[in-house]
Amino acid sequence: MTDAERRAALEAIAEEVTACTRCRLHAGRTRAVPGEGNPDTEVVFVGEGPGFNEDRQGRPFVGRAGDLLVKLLASIGWRREDVFITNVVKCRPPDNRDPEPDEIAACLPYLRRQLNVLDPALVVTLGRHSMGRFMPGARISQAHGTVRPVDPETGAADALVYALYHPAAALRSSEVERVSYEDVAGIPRALVDARRRRTEDAERAERVNPAEPAVPQGTAVAVAPPASAPDVRPAPAASPSPSPGTAPDDQLTLF
Ligand code: URA
Ligand code: SF4
Repeated sequence: MTDAERRAALEAIAEEVTACTRCRLHAGRTRAVPGEGNPDTEVVFVGEGPGFNEDRQGRPFVGRAGDLLVKLLASIGWRREDVFITNVVKCRPPDNRDPEPDEIAACLPYLRRQLNVLDPALVVTLGRHSMGRFMPGARISQAHGTVRPVDPETGAADALVYALYHPAAALRSSEVERVSYEDVAGIPRALVDARRRRTEDAERAERVNPAEPAVPQGTAVAVAPPASAPDVRPAPAASPSPSPGTAPDDQLTLF
C-alpha cells in the first residue's frame, strides 16, 4: 500500500467513525475521536477512550493525560506526530466511566481496520483496557514494560505489543509516573526487537515459498523506517542514528 492509499484508507475509517451509531456511546458524544498520526509510522499507541477535551476537539490525548504522553514520548526523542494515536473506543463514555465490554466489542472493528492499514511493528497499549485487547489475561502491575507477540486477529498482522500504564494513572501517582518514564525508555528497544522479528518472519516466508516473493518483500519494505519519520527509532543515546534509508538490520548490529 502506498502512503497515499494508507492515508485515504485511514480517512475512510475516520469518516465512518464520525457517523457511527453502533453502540450507546454515540448518544453522549460531542465529537467522535477516530485517532490521528503519521500514516507511515511503525508504532501505534492505543488508549482507552476519549475524555472531556478529546470529545470537544475530536482528537485523541489532547488533555492533561495527552500532555504527559507528549512528555513521555519526548523523553525518548519522539514526537506525537511521528506515531499514530487512537483508542479502544472512539466515543467518550459518560463521566469518563470505563467502557463496557459490549461497547468495546462494538468499536473493535474500527481499531482492527486501522491496524490492518497501518501494519505497525509495535503496538503500545496505554492502560488496562487497551492492554486487555493485546495481552489477554495479563495484569498491568506485571505486564507494564514488557513485550509480547500480538495475535494477528487484532488486525496487526506481525507486531509486538508493549504495555504502559495509562498516563492518567501516572497523573494520580508520582510512583506510577516514575515507572512510566522507565517503561517508556524501553520502547525503542522493543521497536528494534519488533523490526528484527518482522525481518526474520519475512525471510522465513521467503525460504518456505520463494516462488511468491511479493508478500515477504512487501513486508520487508514496510519494516524500513519511513524517511518522513526519522525520529521513530531508538534515541541517539542508545543508538547513533543511521542515515535515512539504512536497512533496519544495520541498526540491529548496534545492539
Ligand atoms: N485517555 C484516553 O484513554 N484516551 C484519550 O484519547 C484521552 C485520554
Ligand atoms: Fe461507534 Fe465506537 Fe462510537 Fe460506539 S464508541 S458509537 S462503536 S464509534
